[in-house]
Amino acid sequence: MFDEKQLQAIAEKKAAYQAAVDKALTKGPEMRQEFTTGGGIPLERLYTPEHLQGVDYPKDLGFPGSFPYTRGVQPTMYRGRFWTMRQYAGFATAEESNERYRYLLSQGTTGLSVAFDLPTQIGYDSDHSMAQGEVGKVGVAIDSLADMEILFNQIPLDKVSTSMTINAPAGVLLAMYIAVGEKQGVPTDALSGTIQNDILKEYIARGTYIFPPKPSMRLITDIFDFCSSHVPKWNTISISGYHIREAGSTAIQEVAFTLADGIAYVEAAVKKGQDPNVFGKRLSFFFNAHNDFLEEVAKFRAARKIWAHLMKERFGVTDKTAQMLRFHTQTAGSTLTAQQPENNVVRVAIQTMAAVMGGTQSLHTNSLDEALALPTEKSVRIALRTQQIVAYESGITQTIDPLAGSYAVEALTKQIEEGAWNYIRKIDELGGMLASIEKGYVQQQIQDAAYNYQKAVEAGDRIVVGVNKFQVEEDTSSRTLLRVDPSVGAQQVAKLRKLKEGRDNVKVKDCLEDIRKAAQSDENLMPRIVEAVRHYTTEGEICGVLREVFGEYREHVVL
Ligand code: 3HC
Repeated sequence: MFDEKQLQAIAEKKAAYQAAVDKALTKGPEMRQEFTTGGGIPLERLYTPEHLQGVDYPKDLGFPGSFPYTRGVQPTMYRGRFWTMRQYAGFATAEESNERYRYLLSQGTTGLSVAFDLPTQIGYDSDHSMAQGEVGKVGVAIDSLADMEILFNQIPLDKVSTSMTINAPAGVLLAMYIAVGEKQGVPTDALSGTIQNDILKEYIARGTYIFPPKPSMRLITDIFDFCSSHVPKWNTISISGYHIREAGSTAIQEVAFTLADGIAYVEAAVKKGQDPNVFGKRLSFFFNAHNDFLEEVAKFRAARKIWAHLMKERFGVTDKTAQMLRFHTQTAGSTLTAQQPENNVVRVAIQTMAAVMGGTQSLHTNSLDEALALPTEKSVRIALRTQQIVAYESGITQTIDPLAGSYAVEALTKQIEEGAWNYIRKIDELGGMLASIEKGYVQQQIQDAAYNYQKAVEAGDRIVVGVNKFQVEEDTSSRTLLRVDPSVGAQQVAKLRKLKEGRDNVKVKDCLEDIRKAAQSDENLMPRIVEAVRHYTTEGEICGVLREVFGEYREHVVL
């Protein structure tokens, strides 16, 4: 990189710089003993061209839209199309959530993202005893196709892509979405969107699982196969690091555990004879955009590079799209503070910049009041405007991967890549991700990281503005927060009663029997589930049959 003369000049300048540093230190120490990223990666006082020496330009960096995609998955990135502005939303009844979706679309959101209430996420109808007090609370209550038709009323499914944050019962909600498309006259192969369908991170960090691992992996890979032939534009899984990070992992762990989950899904589908060049095209990912700006940009770049190598070298994938790591980002909910909530707009803006500089395909920006409640219309509008200001006013979308070549970002990209590979190799040694989860290894790593971070905050080593520094006395009486009407539960129960009186219950019974038989065989369950929801069989009824056949997952605590 440098000739003799240049090296000599560099050495002299470096010595002079070190002398200047020493002189500055005589006036007083730097603010901390050790500087690290939010995820604990030690940071150099100064990065210089020498930190680029480990970076092989064509091999490591490459070009956007070509292997290993470090610089982005599209040749023109945001010059051709902005990321999808996709706000996670849903609460109370389908009617109220439909209103919110239509409001968001009117304000410029370019994709939908459904938040379901907990009963829906764990396969209970609103009239189940387990649903009491939770109906419509953290997301929209969906019991049957009737609710889904209302949820997407006046929203043409051939014009919008919809993400659904649903995991254990993902196949049931996908089936309902297909049935709504049929009602709207939209052919199934024209539907586009994503189901989260990532059960491993539910075992690790999020908790909305139902069935044990084996049947869960079967349901997931049934969806891969079904969509490959029936819903080709559908992203069949959103392999999520978001919740792993929210649980307290470091950036390196977020990348490593997410990609290790991805390896497990690809292995499970390959084992069933599916072609990773085909189903691999519709795998997608979901990451967190946290506070440490440089580390986050480097994290996304490293993740794309690792996944491209994994798909090409570990699974022999040759299809370009199937080698790409396409991802959604949500700004970090765990960084939002209840204190001085307006400060959260600044946090979300920084995190948005990191996601965009990191090349995200889709983005949810958190609302300033989300540490307190589900967002109001006003706070969700500010969150969406944050994305729009970054897109239309910041200028950072006009050139691709603009921080490439930064000594610090390239060094961090390399360090995150190496750190993630170390974890992936360790998980391989433990027998893969499922075995590592069952051993409690992954959970323990995350808990340790979370504990260290919290200790640092409590010691004042990590500053959270407004929380452990720069606090103020606040009058919270004037705050307007969104409150979900507790009568939603009763409304849903009444709807269910009416639905069951008006449907063909003989047909429903037959459909449930067909699902039971299919579940007991190795037949792909999706066609049976689609047929059942068409006849207004409820999600709880379908999951009830599957619970009888598959049983339920019980987390065993590793002592
Ligand atoms: N030039 C040409 N074409 C371009 C382009 C460019 N520059 N940029 C994009 N495109 C094309 C793409 O190729 C694609 O075309 P295709 O459909 O023919 O492939 C089309 O434009 C759409 O682009 P993307 O696929 O990149 O964008 P999408 O938004 O459609 O998909 C995704 C993004 C990440 C692949 C998808 O999986 C997705 O939308 N995921 C969202 C997941 C999500 O919202 N999750 C929320 C979870 S909330 C949660 O869990 C948190 C809670 O628990 C608290």
